[in-house]
Amino acid sequence: MIRINENYLKLQASYLFSTIAKRVNEFQNQNPDTEIIKLGIGDATRGLPAACVEAFHTSVDEMAADATFRGYGPEQGYPFLREKIAENDFQARGVDISADEIFISDGAKCDTGNFQEILSADITFAVPDPVYPVYVDTNVMAGRTGNFENDRFQNIVYLECTRDNNFIPDLPKKPVDLIYLCFPNNPTGATISKAELAKWVDYARVNKSLILFDAAYEAFIRDDEIPHSIYEVDGAKEVAVEFRSFSKTAGFTGTRCAFTVVPRQCMAYDSQGNQQSLHALWNRRHCTKFNGVSYPVQRAAEAVYSDAGKLQVKSIIADYMKNADLIRKEMDALGLSYVGGENSPYIWIDAKGNSWDMFDNLLNNAGVVCTPGAGFGTCGDQYIRLSAFNSYENVEKAMKRIRESLK
Ligand code: MLT
Repeated sequence: MIRINENYLKLQASYLFSTIAKRVNEFQNQNPDTEIIKLGIGDATRGLPAACVEAFHTSVDEMAADATFRGYGPEQGYPFLREKIAENDFQARGVDISADEIFISDGAKCDTGNFQEILSADITFAVPDPVYPVYVDTNVMAGRTGNFENDRFQNIVYLECTRDNNFIPDLPKKPVDLIYLCFPNNPTGATISKAELAKWVDYARVNKSLILFDAAYEAFIRDDEIPHSIYEVDGAKEVAVEFRSFSKTAGFTGTRCAFTVVPRQCMAYDSQGNQQSLHALWNRRHCTKFNGVSYPVQRAAEAVYSDAGKLQVKSIIADYMKNADLIRKEMDALGLSYVGGENSPYIWIDAKGNSWDMFDNLLNNAGVVCTPGAGFGTCGDQYIRLSAFNSYENVEKAMKRIRESLK
């Protein structure tokens, strides 16, 4: 008899953003004349940077001719892209990461979700609350948790992020083996200083833990003091893996390209207590389960690092951040407290009540979609998240409608 992985039965019925999409579609069907403005899921709305489009066209033409056609590429990604990433994202910031420590993939969602596969099933792990649901659900699927009771999974160490700690989690009270961190944070938009990040690196070194550091939103950092990479902290290469993405940086949410940095020094332990290279294990997994990102997509991602590409990306991000500034200004005017939006595209707003009620209120009365904080964890119960990914015009319109509906 074929049997299922019963851990899947512990999961909530559907993924947060699917639930929201379903509710929005139902509303739209019932109210076909309402022009809905989506400030929910963090999905890019601007066209790809011109440099990326040009690289796409050129590489598609290459694929069309026998002489320049490419079949399977290296699973880890083409050297042309890995080298550009190492130089521009790390070495230019004084961080010694080399091209062969970078694994190109089709998304940070997949990588942050898949990385736990190479770790033991019986490790302990900690996640912030609120949290990007992928970190939790993939560990549930892997059987590392108990059941979902009283709004939380058993056997997860939840690190509460509240106004009291400026939405930066405190170190766990007892040792945990695996820690997920995300900065600039999704969903709160909070950022972390280098000194605070160093505490986590020290913790991981002392406890022989591993930090999975999600830096998918680093391109939105405007303050020069805020670290872009965990490797800016000394000693982090031994205890941290970092995830980056072109999705939010260059509008690749539909195009798909991301990368994971697994430094050669980064180790975990076998049951005998011997060190094992995570780089070797991730490489083994990647080569077995993945055949690489398509050549045109990698060429397009490479173009992000051209002179023109850098300028275009900067300008698109500045536009999204102009939206974030407008949302913050409006929340100030409404007297709603919030965090984020200064160095991130997300604004985490105190809804002063149930977050799903606020979601319904904004959808029904303003035609605006937000993300209810409860979907990210119990600490999000009273918050909603607004995303800056939309046109300025739509954000202006949404703010006006919210102002009127909350009167
Ligand atoms: C979000 O809105 O939290 C993100 O867009 C989801 C994702 O990147 O998968």
